[in-house]
Amino acid sequence: MTTRRTIGPEELDMLNLADPRLHAENELSAVWRHLREHEPVHWNPATETAPGFWVVTRHTDVTSVYRDNTTFTSEGGNVLETLLAGGDSAAGRMLAITDGGRHRELRRVLMSAFTPGALQPVVASVRRTVDRLLREALDTGNCDFAADVAAGIPLGAICDLLGVPESDRAHVLSLTSSALGSHDADGTAADAWIAKSEILLYFANLARDRRDSGHADVIALLAGSKVNGLPLDDDEIMLNCYSLILGGDETARLSMVGAALALVEHPDQWRALKRGDAGVDTAVEEILRWTTPALHSGRTATTDTEIAGRPIRSGDIVTVWNASANHDEQVFDDPGRLRLDRTPNKHCTFAYGPHFCLGAYLARAEIGAVLEGLRDLVEDMEQTGPSKPVYSNFLSGLGSLPLALK
Ligand code: HEM
Repeated sequence: MTTRRTIGPEELDMLNLADPRLHAENELSAVWRHLREHEPVHWNPATETAPGFWVVTRHTDVTSVYRDNTTFTSEGGNVLETLLAGGDSAAGRMLAITDGGRHRELRRVLMSAFTPGALQPVVASVRRTVDRLLREALDTGNCDFAADVAAGIPLGAICDLLGVPESDRAHVLSLTSSALGSHDADGTAADAWIAKSEILLYFANLARDRRDSGHADVIALLAGSKVNGLPLDDDEIMLNCYSLILGGDETARLSMVGAALALVEHPDQWRALKRGDAGVDTAVEEILRWTTPALHSGRTATTDTEIAGRPIRSGDIVTVWNASANHDEQVFDDPGRLRLDRTPNKHCTFAYGPHFCLGAYLARAEIGAVLEGLRDLVEDMEQTGPSKPVYSNFLSGLGSLPLALK
């Protein structure tokens, strides 16, 4: 029911891959296929307002760039939005845009809150939330799967981790949506900037309240830890809380909504899941590949180098496209087919190497809980109205998906 225009390689010269509308409203798989085959390291030219950047599309080159954070640093920003704006003021302080020894130390501190053991109570709470939200949607019959089901799951988990009070959660949810991916085509950069500032302010206040408070949440963990022998200051705590919300809320939400749509659009796979012919573990990985909520990651070259024989100059912006790598014919058998029992499934959805997604275990548990809930509680699903895409060059998926659940 979503009408997306298919764009072919003949239009490549006119495309700007930094344009959110291009990704939201069009089907680009033919463009990605063409680039992988003929121009795997493509130059997206500069515009009047932004510099040009490299577009890396093959799985092998995408994973090589991800692994080498010495030649390709995240400290100039790790998404097009900040890279094209000239950098990210949180570089060296927020995990995803820090490299080297400081990144390793900060990651070690945060990792202790993201192990399967530490996450056990959060995952148990995710399962209860999924069960409750699906039962409510079944009682009503009709729902917007994005707003009524998916929206409450990842943010609830991150708020549990951060100890955000229940009464603040709806406010935090609306801010994260405006900050990262706009749900309408006219959402402005100014709206996003205001929302980001409000989130930062919110966490600055929470971090101040939590210092020495005896709480056992991630904010208290950060406040009580040392990196390179020094305690983190309030700014660093606030920025890393913010990065958990921005990195782990909408991405996971988009995957869940994409999962529901994929099952509606592929009745054979829905039946395979319900019959147990496809297990939840392989289904989660295929949903992650199929939906690829984070379209790209970005880096800056620290030295003159090359990718697949193409010379790259020091200072160049290099973007690696998970959306293309996850459909690379050299790695995936019949990549255009959804196969919930696909194995192996070496998707790039969570990146690779030193910046591999810190929340991957939690995201997998969340998507697994949704698939199990749908399998066990829902007999049939039908789309009842048009879906709405998110407008972003970084996030991909649906901000609204009306469904009837039986
Ligand atoms: C389906 C859901 C998710 C997707 C698609 C996703 C995707 C990614 C990707 C592609 C990266 C690498 C970025 C880069 O290399 O520049 C990343 C890193 C990260 N993610 Fe996720 N993520 C998801 C869920 C989560 C969750 C649930 C959390 C936490 C609650 C989280 C927190 C992080 C953090 C903190 C990093 C930075 C790691 C580092 O730099 O060492 N993500 N994620």
